[in-house]
Amino acid sequence: MNASSEGAGVAGEGAGGVLAHGFRPLWSEGSALDGPGLDGPGLDGPGLDGPGLAEWYAAPAPWLRANLAVTLDGAVAGPDGRSGSINNVADHVVFGVLRDWCDAVVVGAGTARAEGYRPASRPVVVVSARGEVPPTLLGGGVERAQGSSDDVGGGTGGGRLPGDGLAVAQDGAPRDGCVECDGRGEGLVLLVTSGSAPGLAAARRTLGDDRVLVLGDESVDLSLLRAALAARGWQRLLAEGGPGLLRSLLAVRAIDELTLTVLPRLIAGEGPRLLGGDWLDVPLHLAGLLTAADGTLFGRWQPEYATYA
Ligand SMILES: NC(=O)c1ccc[n+]([C@@H]2O[C@H](COP(=O)([O-])OP(=O)(O)OC[C@H]3O[C@@H](n4cnc5c(N)ncnc54)[C@H](OP(=O)(O)O)[C@@H]3O)[C@@H](O)[C@H]2O)c1
Repeated sequence: MNASSEGAGVAGEGAGGVLAHGFRPLWSEGSALDGPGLDGPGLDGPGLDGPGLAEWYAAPAPWLRANLAVTLDGAVAGPDGRSGSINNVADHVVFGVLRDWCDAVVVGAGTARAEGYRPASRPVVVVSARGEVPPTLLGGGVERAQGSSDDVGGGTGGGRLPGDGLAVAQDGAPRDGCVECDGRGEGLVLLVTSGSAPGLAAARRTLGDDRVLVLGDESVDLSLLRAALAARGWQRLLAEGGPGLLRSLLAVRAIDELTLTVLPRLIAGEGPRLLGGDWLDVPLHLAGLLTAADGTLFGRWQPEYATYA
């Protein structure tokens, strides 16, 4: 299944289609879905439809949510180096809901390159130490797969990214206070880099000065990211990975929440895992747990930064 066909499927789901995936809250707190717990009546209920799923993922603003999908053994990509070879349709549905929720997408340049990111119905903010804008983001226009579905990433076939079908279908209005969100910032591409990035001058020529955010002199200071994007009115931020960016954001305590899809499969191999690099210890609080009929688990994990030094 390629990204286009998946995107069209999600876009065409409608509320009844989402219902068919059997999304059921196993645990949730701090929302209207508070209640039954692991063995409560929620498991016998009708499951969540599209609006119900969006409500389950509701979050305050400002909020920076990281969202990734892993196999049970922690892989974020299959043998082809893309997430499309490990994920599934239920994950795509949630991906669309989260795109709908956000004001802007933040993505590491490695992921944008690997997945072939393209402009989306939300601003795409690429983080690159080198200051290089992935070429697929420079194509212009918002590519859509059949009807209202974007085919943002994975556009060259096989990425995790089904596009923004739900966003386009359900939300036609600019968000309050979002200065660049007229039309939801559709098609915007921004680069976050440092003052010493080799590609800085070229990026400014390509994107325009206003689309290049220099955060830090020698290296990218991601602790400045949220404020820089909030200044544009983008407070609901969705960081779509990859592992390198996730680690960097955790290291500066910039993340409010990790929404993690756990896919019911094992893959082994040498591919990238959820996190790598130096040791990092981030205690997490489970704020919500959802399952789909196919056994995929969806967690809402919130770092408890305050509990460690
Ligand atoms: N399963 C999933 O949900 C999921 C999600 C996303 C990605 N993935 C997979 O993850 C793999 C890519 O992993 P990755 O770790 O290379 O992805 P990544 O974090 O997206 O990319 C790493 C690159 O992003 C930039 N970057 C990240 N953190 C930075 C920081 N603190 N400062 C400056 N630049 C920073 C750098 O770009 P420059 O090289 O341009 O300097 C760096 O080389 C792919 O296989 C992709 O398919 C899976």
